[in-house]
Amino acid sequence: MSANDLLLPPGPVLRVLAPGSPQAQAIYHLGLETSVVLAGIFALVAGAVVAALMRFRWREGDPDPRQDAGNRTIELVWTAIPGVIVAVLFALTARTMSVADPAPAPAPDLVVTGHQWWWEVRYPKSGVVAANEIHLPVGRALSVQLDSADVLHEFWVPELARKITTVPGRPNHIWIEADRPGTYSGFCSEFCGTEHAWMHFLVIAEAPEQFAAWQRAQLRPADRPAGTEAAAGLALFERTSCASCHAIAGTAARARVGPDLTHFASRRQLGAGVADNTPGSLRRWLADPQQVKLGAKMPNFQFTDRQLAQLVAYFETLR
Ligand code: CUA
Repeated sequence: MSANDLLLPPGPVLRVLAPGSPQAQAIYHLGLETSVVLAGIFALVAGAVVAALMRFRWREGDPDPRQDAGNRTIELVWTAIPGVIVAVLFALTARTMSVADPAPAPAPDLVVTGHQWWWEVRYPKSGVVAANEIHLPVGRALSVQLDSADVLHEFWVPELARKITTVPGRPNHIWIEADRPGTYSGFCSEFCGTEHAWMHFLVIAEAPEQFAAWQRAQLRPADRPAGTEAAAGLALFERTSCASCHAIAGTAARARVGPDLTHFASRRQLGAGVADNTPGSLRRWLADPQQVKLGAKMPNFQFTDRQLAQLVAYFETLR
């Protein structure tokens, strides 16, 4: 748990108050500057209303105050002032956009695809494939392409970057960066169906050498397990229909419907944040995915206790 977690509740809204990248910092500053301008307008308007209430309060016997119709100077002033305010806000916004949202790189460093209800993560330059967990080298902006496999989703890491919608067939782009090492929470922030609420992901920012080591580890194909229990789990995985949806490099499974499981056990969470990735929660998931995440697209395969133990033993080898 970081100092941020102690100060801020886990919800995404307040996390925008703790920007952790130049992009998020620029957005945070725009929010502050806009709030100051709006507070000034509110104070002026509310102050004028209160002053008018006091100064022109009607008392028994008072005549009507002097009426001013069609004063050109006043008309000009109250048209010009909002014009200036809008121009200032426009300039501040344009400055923020140039920092927070520059043009995308010609080739993305990262391609993130929203699925109902999980995130596919691909690093096209290295070939790394992950799910619901993005690793970043600290202090380097990565150009991210956002796709959707089905419906509209919205990718949002409040501490690191702006929200961006993923649209089927129309890639969007964003830059993402982290100033400090740490684990940042990501969310889907556009309603996308039953399990919209469990479409979380983690962004793990780490030193460049650690990031490089993570990439190397992720690029290794899965080992053929040595233990008999785990080997039986792999055989079961290959024999049943697991491989029609999932991929595990080093086996015959190549499908891209569900998350790539090659390094499943290296991930901190499962089911897009619905549970910590422990053997116990994995077992519950395999026994009945709907029980853990209602609406998840993975069916209940009615595995026996023995088969569950074998599958768990195998998945725990996928480090
Ligand atoms: Cu995906 Cu909400």
